[in-house]
Amino acid sequence: MRRPFIAGNWKMNTDSNSGPELVKGIAAGLTDIDSVDVAVIPPFVYIPAAVEAAASSKIAVGAQDMYFEDKGAFTGEISTAMLKDVGCSYVLCGHSERRHVIGETDELINKKVIAAISGGLLPILCVGELLEEREAGKTDEVNERQVKAGFAGLSADKAAAVTIAYEPVWAIGTGVTATPDQAQEVHAKIRKLVAELYDENLASQMRIQYGGSAKPGNAAELMSQPDIDGLLVGGASLKAEDFLGIINASA
Ligand code: PGA
Repeated sequence: MRRPFIAGNWKMNTDSNSGPELVKGIAAGLTDIDSVDVAVIPPFVYIPAAVEAAASSKIAVGAQDMYFEDKGAFTGEISTAMLKDVGCSYVLCGHSERRHVIGETDELINKKVIAAISGGLLPILCVGELLEEREAGKTDEVNERQVKAGFAGLSADKAAAVTIAYEPVWAIGTGVTATPDQAQEVHAKIRKLVAELYDENLASQMRIQYGGSAKPGNAAELMSQPDIDGLLVGGASLKAEDFLGIINASA
């Protein structure tokens, strides 16, 4: 049985007041919910404050990105050890905004996934097709390529640390959500691919989140799909009430 996993990706939002307040608001609403894993993913500089605000709550804290090298002359970058040091447990790898706005490649993202696991973080590997790729009938091809590349060189015991997030790029921040059927279709294909890359057992345990305009009103229907195990939430994770609505709908 896969435990639902709801993560809030704050992107480049919040500040030193609103970040910890958001965490406290979420924590206050979580006291009766035991069946869902919850994480918040603030901008780097607000991670320590979020960790402090999340202390003695059920909320884990993640980072939006990392660099694969341990340390050294990499101006502007953040290592796995640094993230562990400030209390992170998760890290996003290959979010679509990193792929398509910043220009990260499959190879770079793979290095990050490998480094995250070696350093004791739990990567959330994000994959998903652009609108033009879906319209050109390339949805499966793109997701297959991104998943295969993301897991390249990972043994099964290491791969087990990964959560996959399927986020169709056309649904991110647009208010357009993939229908539950559209999402389920891709999730099932991704799980089958994981079984081919590793085995059925690992595939049946791997959590696959959906992301893209998830909100309280569509969370239950998305989560009712057999292969949707969680949600990676952007916009609706910035208000405690909305994020809690999504968590409640997933419990
Ligand atoms: P959204 O973002 O919920 O605002 O669409 C999701 C994401 O990018 O993870």
